[in-house]
Amino acid sequence: MDFPVQRWRDAVKIRHSIRTYNQQPLVGNIKERLLKFIAQANTEVNGVRAEFIDDGGSKVIQSIIASYGFIQGVRSYIAFIVDKNDRHCYEKIGYLGEMCILEATSLGLASCWISGTFKPKLVEDQLSIGFSEKVVAITPVGYSSNKQSIIEKLMKKIAGSHQRKPLEELCPDYNQHWPIWIKDAVCLARLAPSAVNRQPWRFIVSEDAKEIKITLDKLSDIESKRLDCGIAMLHIEIAALINNIQGGWNYLNKPDIAVYVKK
Ligand SMILES: Cc1cc2nc3c(=O)[nH]c(=O)nc-3n(C[C@H](O)[C@H](O)[C@H](O)COP(=O)(O)O)c2cc1C
Repeated sequence: MDFPVQRWRDAVKIRHSIRTYNQQPLVGNIKERLLKFIAQANTEVNGVRAEFIDDGGSKVIQSIIASYGFIQGVRSYIAFIVDKNDRHCYEKIGYLGEMCILEATSLGLASCWISGTFKPKLVEDQLSIGFSEKVVAITPVGYSSNKQSIIEKLMKKIAGSHQRKPLEELCPDYNQHWPIWIKDAVCLARLAPSAVNRQPWRFIVSEDAKEIKITLDKLSDIESKRLDCGIAMLHIEIAALINNIQGGWNYLNKPDIAVYVKK
């Protein structure tokens, strides 16, 4: 599949987590377009998959404040499912899930990655799940209610959702003379969402400026940070492709996650 990179780059820039929805079904042909996209996207990445559930979101969202966040009025959602036997399933589901989220954004839908404040068992009741599969996250897809709950406003303030770490912290060797595609890639990766906005990634650029490596800030909570890094991987690739830089990802061992190598 050809990635619609311009649309996704624009989506990266406007997307923010929305936690208050108005329970409305998807309008017009949006549901069909999203279903078609998910079916295509699922063939792009093996060992993980996404599944759209039209109605049922209100049951699977935790109704009390749990780890953080408070999500209301959800109807439709996408479940993100991994095959536990795949060594890189967390990076892959971050990457595939972000494809779905950016596509949903460009279709005018609100979304929010949710890995903590949902009930995986109830999601599994609403879809058919294989023996080695596990639901690791979901996102609502729908329309934002104009009224943000007080809790949503508070959570945004606490999580500092709109803020990102300075580029110099994320790229310890930041160099003004890097090629444009590298600078664009790290800037777009910097905007990636992450659980509790922790931004657990560091970007290391090779001396010949042909590779961007993603490495972890700390060796804690590794599985879920690998998911965050999968999201940043997609953002790097979008920027590379916009600059006509073809390349591919190689997975690495911790604390490194993966390296994008220019062809
Ligand atoms: C993998 C992942 C899991 C997340 N889980 C939750 C969650 O359980 N509850 C919640 O309210 N927000 C959750 N978020 C949303 C983050 O808090 C949010 O993306 C971050 O604060 C950045 O804000 P933004 O998405 O508005 O840019 C999650 C985000 C990611 C990427």
